Amino acid sequence: MPNYRLEKKMSIDSIYRTRSLGVPTVGLPDQYADGRAAKVWELYMGGKTSRTDAYKEWFVQTFKDRGVKTVIDVACGTGIDSVMLLEEGFQVVSCDASDKMLKSALEERWRRRKETKFDNWVIKEANWLTLKEDLNADGDVPIKLFDAVICCGNSFAHLPDFEGTLEKHKIAISQFYSMLKPGGILFIDHRNFDHILDHGCVPQGPNVYYQGKFLKDIKCSNLTVNGKPNMTTFDYEMDIHNVEPEILTKLRIDPAEQVCWKFRLSYYPHRLQTFNGLLRSVFGDDAEHHIYADFQPMDDSTKDPAYYMHVIKRPA
Ligand SMILES: C[S@@+](CC[C@H](N)C(=O)[O-])C[C@H]1O[C@@H](n2cnc3c(N)ncnc32)[C@H](O)[C@@H]1O
Repeated sequence: MPNYRLEKKMSIDSIYRTRSLGVPTVGLPDQYADGRAAKVWELYMGGKTSRTDAYKEWFVQTFKDRGVKTVIDVACGTGIDSVMLLEEGFQVVSCDASDKMLKSALEERWRRRKETKFDNWVIKEANWLTLKEDLNADGDVPIKLFDAVICCGNSFAHLPDFEGTLEKHKIAISQFYSMLKPGGILFIDHRNFDHILDHGCVPQGPNVYYQGKFLKDIKCSNLTVNGKPNMTTFDYEMDIHNVEPEILTKLRIDPAEQVCWKFRLSYYPHRLQTFNGLLRSVFGDDAEHHIYADFQPMDDSTKDPAYYMHVIKRPA
């Protein structure tokens, strides 16, 4: 099996720069390494509670209906969904590959450490391709198998497919599967890349996850390699001149200097049908699998959602 930790990531930068200036090529797996996205992430989301209010009830109900008590958030970022689940009484382990993003989750844990549930919150740095190994490295993750794995906010699409085989995607999904108890569920989402590839822009409707009022534009570019869509790049532009100076100072952004804040992130554009096949290749064709559009059940009236959400069950 290839060593994904040591392997130099093949770069397609000869064709296209995939990330903000300042993120080194070998840092491609962590596109948040320069801190440009991490710094403004909470402004982009629109505040911790207003973001999760939009779907908290859905998560709590879906998880309670399925007897979920333990959850691993494998792309916790700044910790937004993990905090929501902790507050709702779930036992949570959180991990992410980016220390810049984890910093914010760690600060929140420290700030609320006097609350038992936050004191028990385990946060680790881990890459999906080596998830089990990374989590077990220090032997301090108290749970080995979970009732639910979550991978939210279009995170999974960050995994590139330079080989054109989806091999790494299968490994990552297999790692998620291996973290589940029999009967446990994976919640995973992706943007509506069918729309993005077909129209060259994100759908116009509201974004269930990212509702901050400072986003000015997302410029979308689709890259095709040998006739196959291979990468979608978003150039985010945020107008932050109205952000309160105290907040900018906290984010270590010089208020005098920054008016338009830009960062670039790249994604593998998953079409819905291909993604269904990817999940089934690991969970099996008979696995119970539900698809939602912006957290609503899909039906004939579903039109141009921003995101697709999948809930797939590891057979008992
Ligand atoms: C779009 S952010 C979303 C974070 C959070 N779930 C949210 O919605 O705010 C994507 C996250 O996925 C993480 N990520 C990307 N590739 C990863 C990998 N191979 N292993 C672990 N985390 C990864 C990034 O570091 C980043 O924090």
